[in-house]
Amino acid sequence: MLQTDNPVQDLPAGHGHSVASSNSSANAVSVRNVSKNYGTVEALKDLSLEFPKGQLTSLLGPSGCGKTTLLKIIAGLLEPTSGEIEVDGRSVDGPGPDRAFVFQDFALLPWASVLRNVSFGLELRGVAKSEREDIAAKYIADVGLAGFEKSYPHELSGGMRQRVGLARALSVDSDVLLMDEPFSAVDEQTRRKFQEDLLSLVANENKTFIFVTHSIEEAVYVSDQIAILLPRPSRVSDIIRPSGLREKDSRSIRRDPEYLDIVDEIWESLRSYVE
Ligand SMILES: Nc1ncnc2c1ncn2[C@@H]1O[C@H](COP(=O)(O)OP(=O)(O)OP(=O)(O)O)[C@@H](O)[C@H]1O
Ligand SMILES: [Mg+2]
Repeated sequence: MLQTDNPVQDLPAGHGHSVASSNSSANAVSVRNVSKNYGTVEALKDLSLEFPKGQLTSLLGPSGCGKTTLLKIIAGLLEPTSGEIEVDGRSVDGPGPDRAFVFQDFALLPWASVLRNVSFGLELRGVAKSEREDIAAKYIADVGLAGFEKSYPHELSGGMRQRVGLARALSVDSDVLLMDEPFSAVDEQTRRKFQEDLLSLVANENKTFIFVTHSIEEAVYVSDQIAILLPRPSRVSDIIRPSGLREKDSRSIRRDPEYLDIVDEIWESLRSYVE
């Protein structure tokens, strides 16, 4: 069944530190009362959101509302102006091996092969060459790039580069994967394949996925939880859990009445921002 609730009301008044942390075993990431200003631009304003462990949460909202900003703050790449992030019960004050980022614009090393790019995160952690290359080769195959280990980023299509980014994020075995529009550069058929692959990753990898997308359909197809963000200065306006869809066969989800209802409902709540 479709459930919506108001996340702001779910949180205790004030900062509610003790109440929220009693939850920390169920939530991999907690965002509490986070605001972010860039000079005079207010990107995020008092945003609170919980990301349940082992689940995929999508962030859906208008362009410029602060989705990338929120991911960077969770990654520890950017400091919030105020508020707090906890990952697995610990306060975040910088990047860490527990979180891996798949960037909107790939962020691959142009001078390095696919194998080196995928093993780069492990290289930074001091994993020995043969071990890191074995791990990288496995994930290169998992994302469908076997045979391209020695290719360079400029020899790949946009979709293939996104797969390299995904393989790199998976190979470091972080508990939390931060994915910023990871499928934006691929055609519709490839995108559907990626979405199916993502559903099996969520089912098999026991990681927490935080997934930014502009596509309502994509969000409903892959998510355990969808956070609808307001235009800047952003906070969460609604949380939707397409829980009934998660038990369905991935090939029948798009025909499911619940899928169609949720897509419609989200569009109704977002259309005012584009009108
Ligand atoms: N480094 C920066 N310096 C100044 N302003 C910034 C910076 N990064 C982002 N902003 C501003 O913050 C707001 C949120 O940007 P952000 O990139 O987080 O949005 P987004 O939701 O990811 O957008 P999109 O869907 O287009 O990717 C925007 O108004 C943007 O102009
Ligand atoms: Mg963005």
